[in-house]
Amino acid sequence: MSLKEKIEQIQSDIAAAKVSNAENLEQYRIKYLGAKNIFKGLYQDLKDIAAEEKKEFGQRINALKKSSEDRFEELKALIDSTVKVDTTKEQIDLSRPVIGDAIGARHPLAIVRKQLIEVFAKIGFTVSEGPEIEDDWHNFSALNFPPEHPARDMQDTFFIEKGENEMALRTHTSSVQVRVMENSKPPIRTISPGRVYRNEAISARAHCFFHQLEGLYIDKNVSFADLKQTLDYFAREVFGEETKIRLRPSYFPFTEPSAELDVSCTICKGKGCNVCKYSGWLEILGCGMVDPAVLEAANIDSKVYSGFAFGMGVERIAQLKYRVGDLRLYSENDMRFLDQFKSAY
Ligand code: PHE
Repeated sequence: MSLKEKIEQIQSDIAAAKVSNAENLEQYRIKYLGAKNIFKGLYQDLKDIAAEEKKEFGQRINALKKSSEDRFEELKALIDSTVKVDTTKEQIDLSRPVIGDAIGARHPLAIVRKQLIEVFAKIGFTVSEGPEIEDDWHNFSALNFPPEHPARDMQDTFFIEKGENEMALRTHTSSVQVRVMENSKPPIRTISPGRVYRNEAISARAHCFFHQLEGLYIDKNVSFADLKQTLDYFAREVFGEETKIRLRPSYFPFTEPSAELDVSCTICKGKGCNVCKYSGWLEILGCGMVDPAVLEAANIDSKVYSGFAFGMGVERIAQLKYRVGDLRLYSENDMRFLDQFKSAY
């Protein structure tokens, strides 16, 4: 290769030179700028060039050397600026713990609702649901509320429409039981879980909405003993095998006789503590034998059939299971509260 050709070759090599990392850059430096650089050979070749051309070739080699140095600076700047974003050098700490996907938790009321449904399903109860906006008949009249009964008062009920087409937010899920009695024939064995509304000032112990789960059993020869046996089963399933129950007389317009169920305190096991107010007992639900007038209102022959009903607050059960006393926590959607139920179910 003549000197001319060599110069042209090097010229195009320099123009096409590419580096992608510090190592490539160092190879370039050694080749063009190092102690044994490529130009040394070219100066050697000058000896064999005709005397009148020596000057011209000498200048061309000098210029080429200069351009290789300029190119070096260019390439070096390129490497320096790309080092910071060099993805091939990305630092991955393989020993770092995995950040798990944030999964949701079931709401404590949903957990309790599910458990209660399962407990009653085992003894043959189906689940019935109904509308939250009810007419007077299903929420009150069919349940034997006399027209002047205080529970109809504006104090307790959120009325949506007054007068002839009176509509209100249901105050209990007994309204669903009326619908079931109207639409099916005994034997009836069903529970109705759902949200209910009462016009109460919101505090730790009262809320304008909460959740109920009511049960209804209608057949021939259903007795109070059946009710007691069912409640005993429920209490042992939900609060533990050793739980005791007691019934106290009470009053509801739709049951006769009526009772209130207490269970032995789940915290102190009946010894007395601040949760049971040192009585050893906790009030859990209302119940009784379905009033014959209620059966008749739903076109069920009260001479042939009898039944029992019970109704409990889901928040109350959750309060005893999880020791959450403040009702407001259930609807505030505070993540610090909800996250605590992640492992619950
Ligand atoms: N419906 C009653 C309430 O809301 C509860 C209840 C249901 C009582 C069935 C007796 C029988 O308080």
